[in-house]
Amino acid sequence: MSSHPTPDANATRKPITLHRLRELYASGEKLTMLTAYDATFARVADEAGVEMLLVGDSLGMVLQGRSSTVPVTLDEMAYHVRAVVAGNKTAWVIGDMPFGSYQQSPARAMASATVLMQAGAQMVKLEGGGWTTETVRFLTDRGVPVCAHLGLTPQSVHALGGYRIQGKTDEAAATLRQHAHALADAGAAMMVFELMPSTVATEITRSLPIPTIGIGAGVDCSGQVLVLPDMLGLTRGKLPRFVKNFVQGATSIDEAIKTYVADVKAKRFPDNALHGY
Ligand code: KIV
Repeated sequence: MSSHPTPDANATRKPITLHRLRELYASGEKLTMLTAYDATFARVADEAGVEMLLVGDSLGMVLQGRSSTVPVTLDEMAYHVRAVVAGNKTAWVIGDMPFGSYQQSPARAMASATVLMQAGAQMVKLEGGGWTTETVRFLTDRGVPVCAHLGLTPQSVHALGGYRIQGKTDEAAATLRQHAHALADAGAAMMVFELMPSTVATEITRSLPIPTIGIGAGVDCSGQVLVLPDMLGLTRGKLPRFVKNFVQGATSIDEAIKTYVADVKAKRFPDNALHGY
């Protein structure tokens, strides 16, 4: 069952800072994130009360119609970060580092992060486990807030053999746990957990000192993220079971996003019973 939030839920919100996100996390309040790629949807999501807008490289699939995120370039990411920042007033904006923009070296990652931060991102996100810790430390030491990304890392789709659930065996779960702690120790301020068993995500979330943001990782992550066109029912084809179409039962897109925020905060979304793994 979805709730019916008030229309002006976000009228007086101050700009979200990392400090504010840490306060919310410390208080146990669930954090909300959605992807955004343009000014119009950024404004709508911000006004609906979403705390974080992720300019995800998923734009390669949902905007450009590609079959993976691999072809997305840094210039394309910067273009969409600028658009989102132009529409947004208060949400925290995260720019995804695309494939090939940070893997080579920490210095290369810093150069790429500079492009996204100068386009207006307040944090960058990069995919990968233990091998990214040196880069995460390098960036955070230099004033770049970093969101790590573990579990299914879509930029590695060809190496992983498809969009598969990660961390299913005890050994794989232990590796995820070890990488999550190494990344938090290296200074990551937040971590996306994508497509992993909810039991694994729950256990690691409880042991970490930073928030985890789940997508297909169960209700016990510190917050949730969804790909905007997925939760608006615009994506065609088979969607993962954890995705919910929030437009169903809503009278507008604004209301659908407000319901997402309310449902995440109240732990009504995601439904672990639908998680399926
Ligand atoms: O690119 C993206 O949209 C993402 C989310 C799926 C977390 O990384």
